[in-house]
Amino acid sequence: MSLPRFRPVAAGSPILAMARKAAEHRAAGHEVIDLTLGEPDFAPPDHVIAAAHEALDTRRMGYTPVNGIPPLRAAIREHFARERGLTFADDEIAVGCGAKQVIFNAFLASLEKGDEVVLPAPYWASYPDMVRACGAVPVVVPTALETGFRLDPDVLAAAITPKTRWVVINAPGNPSGAVYSASDLAALAEVIAGHPRILVLSDDIYAPIRFSDTPYASFAAVVPDLADRTLTIDGVSKAYAMTGWRVGWAGGPKDLVTAINAVQSQNATQTSSLSQIAAVAALTGPQDSLPVRAEIYRKRRDAALAVLAESPHLSTAAPDGAFYLFPRIAGRHGDETAMALLEATGVAVVPGSAFGGDDHLRLSFALDEASLVEGCRRIVDFLGRA
Ligand SMILES: Cc1ncc(COP(=O)(O)O)c(C=O)c1O
Repeated sequence: MSLPRFRPVAAGSPILAMARKAAEHRAAGHEVIDLTLGEPDFAPPDHVIAAAHEALDTRRMGYTPVNGIPPLRAAIREHFARERGLTFADDEIAVGCGAKQVIFNAFLASLEKGDEVVLPAPYWASYPDMVRACGAVPVVVPTALETGFRLDPDVLAAAITPKTRWVVINAPGNPSGAVYSASDLAALAEVIAGHPRILVLSDDIYAPIRFSDTPYASFAAVVPDLADRTLTIDGVSKAYAMTGWRVGWAGGPKDLVTAINAVQSQNATQTSSLSQIAAVAALTGPQDSLPVRAEIYRKRRDAALAVLAESPHLSTAAPDGAFYLFPRIAGRHGDETAMALLEATGVAVVPGSAFGGDDHLRLSFALDEASLVEGCRRIVDFLGRA
C-alpha cells in the first residue's frame, strides 16, 4: 500500500526551529534571553478583560454570523473611519481568526494556480507559504536597508507580469519596521493603476506601533481610485496585546469580501464569540494605552540600537514602527549565526532567512529593556569574538 501523499506548503519554519532550539537550551538548564517573540509583552487593557468576564456570565456563547456579531462589524467600521480615514459598508467587512486567517481566506478566494503575488523582502514569513498553499507563486522583490526597506516603484514595475494578482504592502513591516509616506504610496499606486487585474493587500496590523507623529498613511485612503482593488487588514493582536484571542479583519470591495466570507464559513465558521465581545471592548473602549505602549517600544528600540551601533559587524536601520530590528551581519549567514549565538551566549534570535534576508537576524524588542539591552550586548560581544 502506498503512503498518502501531501502537498508540502513550507519546508518548516525557521522561526519555530529557533523557538524549539531555545526551549531545548532552557530545558538543559541554561538561561535564555529570548529575542524571537512576535507578540507584545503587555496584557490586554483591563476593560477588555472585564468585558470578557461579563460576557461569560451570560452563558450565551453560540455561533455568530460568519463575519462577526453586528456590534463588532460596527466597531471595526468606526475604527477604520477614525484611525485610517476609510469608509466601509457593513458588507465590506470580513472578520476571521486573526488577520492571518483573513489574509489566507483572501488568497484562497482569489488566486488561481500559477498566479503571482509580489512580496517585498524582507516579508512576514507567512505570506509566501500562504501563497504557495493556494497553488500560486510568491514573487519576492528586494528592498534595501539603506532606503529603509521601502519598495521602490521601479522595482515593483519590473516585477509585474500578466500573472500578477496581488501586491502586498505591509507597513509598519514585520520584520523591516518600514513605514510609507503618502507620496511613497502614491508612487506605487501609479505603477499598479495601469494593471487592472492587480489587487493590493495593505496589511496595517502594526499601524498603532509607530515612532513618529506623522499621521498613518493607509493605501486605500491615500489612493481612493484604487480602493475598489484594495483589501485593508487589521486586528487586535499587536495593538491591544490580544494575540491569542484571534480576532482580525479586512475592509475591502464587496465582491472580494463576499468571497472571503464564503471561505471563512467553511473553514472556521467564525472566530470565537467571546473573543469578538472582547474585541468590541478593545475598539470602543479607552485608547490611551496605545500611545503609551508605542513610546515604551520606541525607548527600547533606541536602547537596542545604541548597543548594536557599537559593532562594526552589524548594520541596523532604525525601524519607524512595529517591534523588530533587522540588522545585517557582515559576511555571515543568519542561520548559522543564530544557532551559534544561542549556543555561545543564550540569546535566541530568528535567522533572517525566514523573512527573505539570509544575511540578517530578526530581534524582537517586545521584552523588558534590561533583558533586551543585555541580549544586544551579548550579540555585539559574540560577533566581536567569533
Ligand atoms: C505582518 C503581519 N500581518 C499579520 C499578522 C497576523 O496577526 P494575527 O493573525 O495575530 O491577527 C502578523 C502576526 O505576526 C504579522 O506580523
